[in-house]
Parts: sequence; C-alpha cells; structure tokens
Amino acid sequence: MIKKIFDFFRHKKKSDQVLEAQELLKVIDKQKLPRHIAIIMDGNGRWAQRRGMPRASGHRAGTEALRDVIKLCCELNIQVLTVYAFSTENWKRPKDEVNILMALLVEYLNKEKNELHQNGVRINPIGRLEELPQPALDALIKAVELTRENKNLILNVALNYGGRTEIIDVIRAIAADVEKGSLKANQIDASMVSEHLYTAGQPDPDLLIRPSADSRISNFLLWQLAYTEFWFTSTLWPDFRRAHLLQALVDFQRRERRFGGLK
Ligand code: IPE
Ligand code: IPE
Ligand code: MG
Repeated sequence: MIKKIFDFFRHKKKSDQVLEAQELLKVIDKQKLPRHIAIIMDGNGRWAQRRGMPRASGHRAGTEALRDVIKLCCELNIQVLTVYAFSTENWKRPKDEVNILMALLVEYLNKEKNELHQNGVRINPIGRLEELPQPALDALIKAVELTRENKNLILNVALNYGGRTEIIDVIRAIAADVEKGSLKANQIDASMVSEHLYTAGQPDPDLLIRPSADSRISNFLLWQLAYTEFWFTSTLWPDFRRAHLLQALVDFQRRERRFGGLK
C-alpha cells in the first residue's frame, strides 16, 4: 500500500515535470536560441548534505542533470555547451573528494562517450589538462579522439580550469611572439586575445547558468563572459533538468541585449 502511494506521487511528479517542459518548449523561439550556453554545475555537496548522504553521491547525481541538459542542447541544435566541472581552486578540497571527482570523471566518460558520439557531440576539455591525474587524462584523450569529427554540439568540459589561468596562458603565448620579434606589442587586440583562448574559434557564451543560489563567477570564463546574460536559480545542480534549462531560455529570450549601444 505504502509503495502504491509512493509510486503515485513519484509518477505524478514526473508527469508534471514533463508537461511543464512541453509547455515551455512551445513558447521558445527556435530562431533566437543562444549559440553558446555555459553552466557552473554547482550545489552537488549541498544536495547530498540535505539528504544526509556523502558529498560524493551529490557529484554522482549531478551527472544525471548533465545528461538531461546535453540531450536538450542536441535537440535544440545549440552549437556550444561549456560546463564547469573542476576549477583550478578545487584542488583545495580534501584529497578524498578530489580523488572521487577524478574517478567519477573517468567513469562518466567511459559510460557516456559512445552515446555522446552517436548524438554527434564533440567532447572538448578545456583547462590546464596536463596537471590532471593520468587516468583522467587517458580517459579524456580517448573521448576526444572518438568524437573529434562530430559537428552537432561542442561540449567544452572545463577541468582544472581557471579564468585567470586561461588569461595568463594567453598572455604567455602572445608574449612569446613579441619576444621572437614576430609581433609588436601595439598590434595586440581583442580578437588576437580571443584567438588564443581555450575557446578559440567559438562564439562567446550568450547565456550563463549558475544553480544553487550562489551569485558569483568563481573564476569561470572571465574574458568570454563580458556581454553574457546571467541566469541564476536556487535549484541545486543534481535537481536541474530540461525544464530548468527551458525556463532559462524563455527568460533569455525576453532580455534586451544592448552591448553598450542603444536599442
Ligand atoms: C560542484 O558542487 C562540483 C564541484 C565544484 C566539483 P559543489 O561540490 O561545489 O557543491 P556545493 O557548492 O558544496 O554544494
Ligand atoms: C565552481 O564551484 C566550480 C565548479 C562548479 C566546478 P565552487 O563550488 O568551486 O565555487 P565557490 O567556491 O562556491 O565559489
Ligand atoms: Mg560549490
């Protein structure tokens, strides 16, 4: 009996959610979608703590949210999705948690890479990848190799990523050309900087999503976010589903972007 009641509410909740997503999908203008969406996948720890579970289970649950979001991005023909998975500052966490995150990355790639490949997703890790543990690096290389020709969606996975580190890497590369004498300092401009970023050749994000009620950038895409629209929600990342992304898109389409000019 208890199981029946439980099932009833579980199914009710599920169908409500699907219906909501379908309704949202109807009001979205397919011609005005962002080309590039960036997401700070935050709140896994709090999600687990609220359930009295270890933080690791929150990280694991977060992969379900990622699955749902990638699927929707493919359906909507979004060009680029960038997800923040591990920052240059996340090494400050206890060693156990760092190890779990790295192991989960390997598990995720091994489990999901074939389906991502079938859906035409190109897996493109960004960050100081050479500092990642070898098993993580190996799994990434395999996933990149498998999906390198895919054209539907570029999935930038930010790993050991820091916006400041990225800018330092850009400065170093450009400074090397100045040092060689092949470039003059006064020839450096914004497009040259963009061409040296980890996201070279991609449009800047149109929309940044941060779940979990924290309203900060946390060293994410500092250069690229100059004119990005921000969307915050208190929903924790493991609870984030396609309906949340659709709501973000509806809100995005109501905004007026001026880029410093006048309407
Ligand atoms: C995001 O969730 C995952 C990583 C930073 C790797 P958190 O682990 O930061 O979750 P909270 O912010 O503690 O809830
Ligand atoms: C940002 O979240 C990094 C990732 C989601 C990977 P954090 O949880 O590390 O950010 P802070 O510490 O709350 O700013
Ligand atoms: Mg956090």
